[in-house]
Amino acid sequence: MISKGIILAGGTGKRMSPLTKAVNKQLLPIYDKPLIFYPLSILMLSKIRDVLIIVNKGQIGQYKKLIKDGKNLGMKIAYQEQSKPRGLPDAFILGEKFIGNKNVAMILGDNFFYGQGLSENLKRCTKLKSGAKVLLHRVSNPDLFGVAKVNKKNKILKVIEKPKKHISKLAITGLYFFDKNVVKYSKTLKPSKRGELEIVDLLNIYKKKNKLTADYIGRGGAWLDTGSIEDYYKTFSFVHAIENRQGVKIACLEEIALFNKWINKNQIKKQIKFYGNCNYSNYLKKIIKDSL
Ligand code: DAU
Repeated sequence: MISKGIILAGGTGKRMSPLTKAVNKQLLPIYDKPLIFYPLSILMLSKIRDVLIIVNKGQIGQYKKLIKDGKNLGMKIAYQEQSKPRGLPDAFILGEKFIGNKNVAMILGDNFFYGQGLSENLKRCTKLKSGAKVLLHRVSNPDLFGVAKVNKKNKILKVIEKPKKHISKLAITGLYFFDKNVVKYSKTLKPSKRGELEIVDLLNIYKKKNKLTADYIGRGGAWLDTGSIEDYYKTFSFVHAIENRQGVKIACLEEIALFNKWINKNQIKKQIKFYGNCNYSNYLKKIIKDSL
């Protein structure tokens, strides 16, 4: 079982400037909570309790103010700075000590997942023993993402970053599962033409060894990217629509922690005090009442 996870929450967010000039993108709101809550909730749904959040230089304090050391969620949350955006695999080089000789999951701080059967899917992925696993999702604009070409037997034939020529509609989402070799392999990567270590180069190392597999987020699931301002607001509206229609929250961290039996109702009461009088706290009060 994979028990460790990394959230890569740095980056310049330049496509969303000036919104991101003073505030890191992952701290901006998606409706009623900061963006970082959504990828963190995905790790929690995967039953991953030991988390490293990688942030930009000078921003650890802001994140700690919000998420603290994780005890409030029955978790262990550590932070590390990335001095500049050197690429996605840099997370494994920075996270070497955190990873140790364990397998690890990585989620990008700006990725949003939702849908029926997601928890089951995640549980399957965390069973990974060796190799690497990616989650694929069909999109209409594959040229904006890492893309995978698979054969009829679901074997991955090719992975390419933002292909200029169409190879497939299957985007590689920003949630990855790796075995313990990931640190060693990441260290062998060289920066690409755009000056970054590329996640597809890392995936290709696994592919060459026949160790890269895929799982899918099907049509019943949503994977939304918050990279551009348009996509950001689409995700914002999606959460607003679902939460108001169903009266349940997406990515309520305390609700998931309680469900996982990582915290009890008293700890939720402490969180209500911490958040203060707000809509999110009212929801937490309802959770306490409903679970009586
Ligand atoms: O969203 C999924 C896509 O994410 C994948 O399909 C692509 O294969 C993958 O390369 C990545 O593409 P993006 O163009 O969206 O990556 P971006 O540079 O925008 O970074 C994604 C997140 O990771 C963003 O929240 C910033 C953070 N980041 C990025 C880099 C390169 C860091 O914290 N540090 C970094 O060095």
